[in-house]
Amino acid sequence: MTVPSPRPVFDAIPGYKAGRPAEHDELKLSSNENPFPPLPGVVERAAAELARINRYPDAGVARLHAALSRHLSRPEDAFAAGTGSVAVLFSLLDAYCGPGDEVVTAWRSFEAYPIAVTVTGATHVTVPLRADHTHDLDAMAAAVTDRTRVVVVCTPNNPTGPVVRHDELERFVAALPSSVLVVVDEAYVEFVRDPDAARGLDLQARFDNVLVLRTFSKAYGLAGLRVGYLVGHPDVAAAVRKATPPFSVSDVAQAAAVASLDAVDELAERVDEVVQGRGLLLEGLRAQGWTVPDSQANFVWLPSDQGPQLAEAFWPVAVRPFPGAVADGGGVRVSVGTTSANERLLDVAARHLTGR
Ligand SMILES: Cc1ncc(COP(=O)(O)O)c(C=O)c1O
Repeated sequence: MTVPSPRPVFDAIPGYKAGRPAEHDELKLSSNENPFPPLPGVVERAAAELARINRYPDAGVARLHAALSRHLSRPEDAFAAGTGSVAVLFSLLDAYCGPGDEVVTAWRSFEAYPIAVTVTGATHVTVPLRADHTHDLDAMAAAVTDRTRVVVVCTPNNPTGPVVRHDELERFVAALPSSVLVVVDEAYVEFVRDPDAARGLDLQARFDNVLVLRTFSKAYGLAGLRVGYLVGHPDVAAAVRKATPPFSVSDVAQAAAVASLDAVDELAERVDEVVQGRGLLLEGLRAQGWTVPDSQANFVWLPSDQGPQLAEAFWPVAVRPFPGAVADGGGVRVSVGTTSANERLLDVAARHLTGR
């Protein structure tokens, strides 16, 4: 018996490959997760919601929108939350793109972009990163046509790590037609320490066609609960809320996200630890002779034509391989882990170089 086929574009959709699990969670440096467990107060407030999971969650995600409004000084209707910022991006593209439309992103960039674009029937226009692994905004501007509906700028860029500079992004946005939505994907923004880095929210306040994607999965350590959001013009946020399946964000996730916003100071200490770990990884790997571009995220990038072989060589530390030549975005991405996991990574990387 045959089953009906999905739309033809599905043949072109790559399946999303999640980071490889490790024998011990601590050595799983393949998914850009936060190595620290959630804060006790956050777990308590999430757990309190478990007693009423016989009820559907709050469909309007009102407590989270209100907390974000206080936190980021935007009206509540400027937000649209979903099950991770990746789901928000899917809803956004669903709302704005269809067959015949184009979506421009840098490449290599976040692996979910080609899936999220292609599933809408739109065409994914990819613009190679510059040799220093940063976005080539001039080339991205040149790739915009009258069919372009959305441009996604990932800063810091996953998997390579560098940020887009604020002045460059400002010029880029100012030069684009206002009919093109610019998504500034700031999944890793809390780890940024470069004062020249793009500030998506500043641009969003000035340009109605700019919106910012953020997540509780990385710095806030809630990847398993699935909650992320966009900040944008209220009309854009309303369209995305419409495109989002009802009851997506559970009350458990909502409670944890709100509690995390209440605990930003405690969380900031953990983020600082990750930033320190990033510095040690960058320094250690460079001292061993690896070429590593700057990273402002919670991971570092080792460009290599032999990504999959390197990932095998680094085992039992699980890292994320990207096949292909360096010029095509080949390499290995290593998430910052605990101090002992980072040391272990440095150890396997050194052994690989010396052939021991
Ligand atoms: C650039 C970027 N955007 C968005 C996401 C999605 O995060 P989440 O769906 O967990 O919020 C990720 C996750 O890896 C990412 O790297």
